[in-house]
Amino acid sequence: MSSKHNVKSVAGKSLSAVIEQLGRSKDEQALPRIFEQELGALLQNLLLVISRHRCSFDFLLAQHCRKKIRPQLRQVFWWALAEWFFLDALTAPNIVNIAVEHVKQHCSRQEAGFVNAILRQLTKLPRDSSYLRHFSQVPEHVQLELPSELYSCLQKSLTPQQLRHCAALWQQPSSVFLRRCAGVQAPPPPSLEKLAPFNWAPNSEVYLYRPDNDSSLRQILAQPGQYYAQDPSTLLAPTMLDAKPGEILGDLCAAPGGKALMLAEALQGKGQLYCRDRSENRLELLRQNLQQHKNVQIEACDALQPDLPEKSLDAVLLDLPCSNTGVIGRRPDLRWTFSRRKLQELIVLQAKICRQSLKLLKPGGRLVYSTCSIDKKENEEQVAAILKDNPGLNLIKEQTLLPDKHNDGAYAALLHKGEGH
Ligand SMILES: C[S@@+](CC[C@H](N)C(=O)[O-])C[C@H]1O[C@@H](n2cnc3c(N)ncnc32)[C@H](O)[C@@H]1O
Repeated sequence: MSSKHNVKSVAGKSLSAVIEQLGRSKDEQALPRIFEQELGALLQNLLLVISRHRCSFDFLLAQHCRKKIRPQLRQVFWWALAEWFFLDALTAPNIVNIAVEHVKQHCSRQEAGFVNAILRQLTKLPRDSSYLRHFSQVPEHVQLELPSELYSCLQKSLTPQQLRHCAALWQQPSSVFLRRCAGVQAPPPPSLEKLAPFNWAPNSEVYLYRPDNDSSLRQILAQPGQYYAQDPSTLLAPTMLDAKPGEILGDLCAAPGGKALMLAEALQGKGQLYCRDRSENRLELLRQNLQQHKNVQIEACDALQPDLPEKSLDAVLLDLPCSNTGVIGRRPDLRWTFSRRKLQELIVLQAKICRQSLKLLKPGGRLVYSTCSIDKKENEEQVAAILKDNPGLNLIKEQTLLPDKHNDGAYAALLHKGEGH
């Protein structure tokens, strides 16, 4: 088989696979993250490009077509535009032919004609990623590649400059960071570059992974208790809780366990850590991650109906389900699962979980409220409302991390329960 034929056949399969994956996507996890099959890297790349550039692809389509495009055809266009502007294996006629053949087979001849006409026009645009420059009056949310609902929510929490900074970062691939577990003595493998301490976690050793031939990420992570892959922003909440050996701790939304691991290390084998999470599946990972720590008890439990006695814990970590707006750089598809309605539901859930969890704290105990969101409604405003409802509670400190070159976004607040409560 000629290599040209092979490229076309792989491209045809990649179009079908893209459509299949986009069709499968659910609210909770818009795109699968690891593809084992033959097309692995190509498919992952196409889906990343589509997640990052859907806004501007839809803008281009709207400029060239006034009629409504149904979702399945739109996905074919996304694939074609991703191939044209961001990949370089296919010529324009190939892209158009593959798309048209797909639509003929799976939709109708009439729609194939429509796709043919639009794609012939679109592939006349020069093949480079700054295609928006050919248009005047591009709305800012399109320039920033943010769905309009997410854009307008973020505008309420960020300055225009901060919003532009975040949006630009979210178009770049994220780095991989590893935290060195407490007590590890062996020198780090050559592929790990030690970073300067982060001001929100001055005692944690964090490394940037630089792929090389000596030690793959898989090899490094295969040895339990050595390195844990986690973004530096995730160190904020457990560091703020400042757990001490001998304390009784609860991590009530604990899975998959990066923060719980830090709490277990801080206990140094003395005291007890209760890890709870509603999701049994996610707890499996947590069990693996904490297998070396004996004073950790792990159970599936809904934080709205806690299984621990009231006033039994010295400190609680509440790393709540949230809109995940701080980690869009790492998971570009998350921008497509955001909605105002879901945000509102999350805010209600966060407040309810917090109310239940405060009951578990001993008088004088502390709770860290944490999210990986950068929306003030889930962070500062939520904590202000919690303080208003709980006169015995004091805010000791709070910190927001906005996404940056070496960290995702996150928020944490340290709350102290008064002695008489
Ligand atoms: C942000 S993640 C926690 C990440 C974790 N702390 C870590 O460091 O790996 C939020 C977790 O809350 C869990 N969750 C959502 N609703 C819950 C509920 N009502 N009760 C307990 N856990 C819940 C989810 O299953 C998810 O694992």
